[in-house]
Amino acid sequence: MDVQRVGVVGLGTMGAGIAQVCVQAGVEVVGREVTDELAERGRATIAHYLNRAVEKERLTADDRDGALERLTLTTELENLSGCEFVIEAIVEDLDAKRALFSELDRVVGPETILATNTSALPVTEIAAASTRPERVVGLHFFNPAPVLKLVEVVRTAHTADDVFAAAYAFAQRIGKEPIECSDTPGFVVNRILIPLLNDCVRVIDEARVSPADVDRAMTFGANWPIGPCALIDLIGVDVHVHASEALWEALREPRMAPPPRLVRMAQAGKLGRKSGQGFFDYR
Ligand SMILES: NC(=O)c1ccc[n+]([C@@H]2O[C@H](COP(=O)([O-])OP(=O)(O)OC[C@H]3O[C@@H](n4cnc5c(N)ncnc54)[C@H](O)[C@@H]3O)[C@@H](O)[C@H]2O)c1
Repeated sequence: MDVQRVGVVGLGTMGAGIAQVCVQAGVEVVGREVTDELAERGRATIAHYLNRAVEKERLTADDRDGALERLTLTTELENLSGCEFVIEAIVEDLDAKRALFSELDRVVGPETILATNTSALPVTEIAAASTRPERVVGLHFFNPAPVLKLVEVVRTAHTADDVFAAAYAFAQRIGKEPIECSDTPGFVVNRILIPLLNDCVRVIDEARVSPADVDRAMTFGANWPIGPCALIDLIGVDVHVHASEALWEALREPRMAPPPRLVRMAQAGKLGRKSGQGFFDYR
């Protein structure tokens, strides 16, 4: 399948990043948001990162302009009708995603592949809202999407083999490193990383060690490129707590449940880098 045009639904943190990756790889993108303002905010985010790449001489001004020209914005779902591939990156809410997938059914052609970027919801349940679950896959990018290479290509029991192969090939075409996996809670990375980070946080209280020393332990003792507390601050404490709760709901393993320390931080608005304060102070 030669993908010329991709629809990206939702231009928040992930959608804007995914759209940027696509336009930089030479693919036309139709970005859909709920309001013109939010769509423009998505475009501004992409322009900001492309401008930064030009300043750092990692991208030419011509390539930046070409990439931005490949992006069109809309608030009308109907404008995705010409897309061979649609990637959904809206809020992490099952009802909202299911409503979108059933609406997309009416709009796109029969051959269009529908992908969800969900982190923690079952792809199978999202696919079930569509009349063509065999054409639905998970395409799980990591944040920031333009930087992190991995894409988990998630197969449900219904996904057709040619659809899966096309989604995998598309991820490669836009410069990503895909892996193949089944629709299980947390897929691969989060299934491993979330309980591991939760263990690191529990050790702070159990071993009376400071967050800074937990990070020193794992960077100098296990050769991690970044300490667990710095990583949670980067991910966002609220995002991590939400993902932990989803895995706990799905698997009922105590290690998946968010440690109380993290829940308190989220409640206090100490969300990490984005709020200026988390385990560490960024103000
Ligand atoms: N943030 C992460 O680290 C991360 C990583 C991987 C996957 N994800 C997943 O990606 C998805 C998006 O997450 P995010 O962090 O970008 O959220 P976000 O809140 O930054 O962005 C979501 C955007 O979707 C828009 N939106 C909501 N309903 C819409 C609709 N019907 N049509 C068009 N736009 C709509 C919102 O206006 C918002 O701009 C979620 O499923 C999340 O689980 C997030």
